[in-house]
Amino acid sequence: MRIAILGAGNVGTALGRRFAEVGHEVVFGVRDPERARDGLAGLPVTTNREATSRAEVVVLAVPFGAVEAAVDGCDLDGKIVVDATNPLTMTEKGLALTAGFDTSGAEQVAAAIPGAKIVKCFNSTGYANMTDASGSMMFACGDDPDATEIVRKLAEEIGFEAVAIGDLTKARLLEPLALLWIQLAFTTDLKRDFAFRIERRKK
Ligand SMILES: NC(=O)c1ccc[n+]([C@@H]2O[C@H](COP(=O)([O-])OP(=O)(O)OC[C@H]3O[C@@H](n4cnc5c(N)ncnc54)[C@H](OP(=O)(O)O)[C@@H]3O)[C@@H](O)[C@H]2O)c1
Repeated sequence: MRIAILGAGNVGTALGRRFAEVGHEVVFGVRDPERARDGLAGLPVTTNREATSRAEVVVLAVPFGAVEAAVDGCDLDGKIVVDATNPLTMTEKGLALTAGFDTSGAEQVAAAIPGAKIVKCFNSTGYANMTDASGSMMFACGDDPDATEIVRKLAEEIGFEAVAIGDLTKARLLEPLALLWIQLAFTTDLKRDFAFRIERRKK
């Protein structure tokens, strides 16, 4: 598939490299293409608008608060847009979500990009697990079942055990799951060197 990754930071580069390794056509969209050329393993890098113009799938790998700026001027009508962001904020008790219970960051992204098929995925684990998923778990959800299945399969192709969990409101579950991963990574001895896995009980 033709995949545009918006944001060439930790998540963007990890996903972009893996998608390219398994045979997809990857292009990065960044704010400053000249500055970003190094470190992207020879994969093409351009503006967000150009990167998204031919893409079938667009991955949002920018800070949640940068999503609207990142997609400004991009024609995403009818495209699959993967929301890998988390709506995080720092509070006096540590990191927290700015949305939850009765909405999610993903639903806010969907409202901001009304013509696109938003699928929440790749938000709920650390970026190192995207480079080496090793069968750890990943969930996808979205209002378009076909788009959700395409993204679920992409996650499977790069090594996750990937499960589709329903419509976009299920992102209300996936964003707290990300916060749990972050909480464990930053406050326990697990550090960042762990992943969640689905373990099936033997019958
Ligand atoms: N870190 C993780 O393990 C992890 C895991 C799951 C999900 N996430 C989520 O994934 C997103 C990215 O996280 P990250 O760790 O990859 O962050 P990061 O390393 O800080 O990278 C974010 C990238 O977004 C770019 N960016 C900002 N505004 C942009 C725009 N308008 N157009 C294009 N690129 C833009 C930044 O580019 P500049 O260099 O130009 O500033 C930067 O390269 C966040 O929403 C985060 O919550 C992170």
